[in-house]
Amino acid sequence: MPDFLSFPPGFIWGAATSAYQIEGGWNEDGKGPSIWDTFAHLPGKTYHGATGDVAVDHYHRWKEDIQLMKSMGLRAYRFSVAWSRVLPKGIPQQINLPGLDFYERLVDELLANGIQPLLTLFHYDLPQVLQDQGGFSTRDTACYFGDYAAILANKLGDRVSSWLTINEPMVFAADGHLSGEHAPGLKDIQSAIASIHFQLLGHGLAVQAIRSAISRPVSVGIALNLNPVYPASQSDEDIQAAILYDCLLNRSTLDPIFLGKYPQELLNLIGLLLPPMEADDLKVISAPIDFLGINYYTRSVIKNEPGIPFVELVPILPPGNVYSQMWEIYPQGIYELLTQIQKDYHPAQIMITENGVPAGDDIDLDDKVRDVRRIQYLQDHLIQVRKAMGEGVPVTGYLVWSLMDNFEWAHGYRTRFGLVYVDFDTLKRTVKLSGEWYRQVISSNGFAPKAFYIEPDL
Ligand code: FCB
Repeated sequence: MPDFLSFPPGFIWGAATSAYQIEGGWNEDGKGPSIWDTFAHLPGKTYHGATGDVAVDHYHRWKEDIQLMKSMGLRAYRFSVAWSRVLPKGIPQQINLPGLDFYERLVDELLANGIQPLLTLFHYDLPQVLQDQGGFSTRDTACYFGDYAAILANKLGDRVSSWLTINEPMVFAADGHLSGEHAPGLKDIQSAIASIHFQLLGHGLAVQAIRSAISRPVSVGIALNLNPVYPASQSDEDIQAAILYDCLLNRSTLDPIFLGKYPQELLNLIGLLLPPMEADDLKVISAPIDFLGINYYTRSVIKNEPGIPFVELVPILPPGNVYSQMWEIYPQGIYELLTQIQKDYHPAQIMITENGVPAGDDIDLDDKVRDVRRIQYLQDHLIQVRKAMGEGVPVTGYLVWSLMDNFEWAHGYRTRFGLVYVDFDTLKRTVKLSGEWYRQVISSNGFAPKAFYIEPDL
């Protein structure tokens, strides 16, 4: 390991958020309800009944938040647009101008402060009216998504150079339509499968819409949640189970996007449940993208389990490893994932669109948040990202999840992911030690690797 690990000039350092998790203002200025507004208001769906009604009030504090980004020296900021803030009914016939203006002001202020905006069009918060008509399990919603993309591209295409269509289609399908832990709260395998196909189709239609609305060169991508998958043992059964899980979690979206087809193992398993496809769906889905966004948090370790219907497998948490509140901490997984993706799919460019760790951060008497475990996590993952880059993987940037503590879906406000601490009662923001560390990393375009935190081993 060199004394100082430097990144190439122009490497994009930033942080990410999403609309429902930070904005609040859930019914202000003409915004229509999204499925997360509906879901979080139902009893028992989120930890302690938390909602994003106020969240961290970014809808009103966006200027202050941009100053925080500037104080950390961020070069880029990934945010999402709330579809129902711009189109309260989801459809293009009724545009809510105050909603559109909010994102225009945000983009202008980012640019004025030297921060590159990365705009995500859809991050879980579908307009409720579209869900009432079947949501992303229908072709219509994919088409409306293309229309919505065109409206944003026409409005902001002269200023926004990096576009992400959809955030984590697989998580939206699985948690929202199969386990029911996320909005819209369905437990229906058929609609889960349909929602993958129609989100991907929506992605393809949005890519087309963005390219035809914006004449100057812009970058368009999608953010996928990918985990490298490992068998729990070297038994044939576990190896086969891991191959199938990799197919379900990773290849079910990577293959159609990059190879224009669904993996055969997936078709064998769920082919009969696929929604009706049209002849050129896969052609639309696989139109070339400029970059792949990867959201990386952890790996998956998979064991064969004949008792589990259908898939006959189960993810396990190997004992003795290191865990956060939500997942195993496994930095070398991001290296293994990046090199594997490069080998299998050769994306033109890769951006790490999310990476971070939940921790039980607390504010000390002197107003400091000493989140050394987060610093260690970020550093250890960046070491692995840099290693993959050294082997030719074209990673152009890295975005920490998240800029600031926020509403973590079903976990409500129980977990904190931010570089900035937010007091959820007063909404006061305080840059954590990790934010200070990140500022130094950005300003020197690298860091001297060291041990900040030793995981206790008793
Ligand atoms: C990702 C989501 C993001 C956040 C992080 C922790 O899967 O995209 O909104 O919840 O996990």
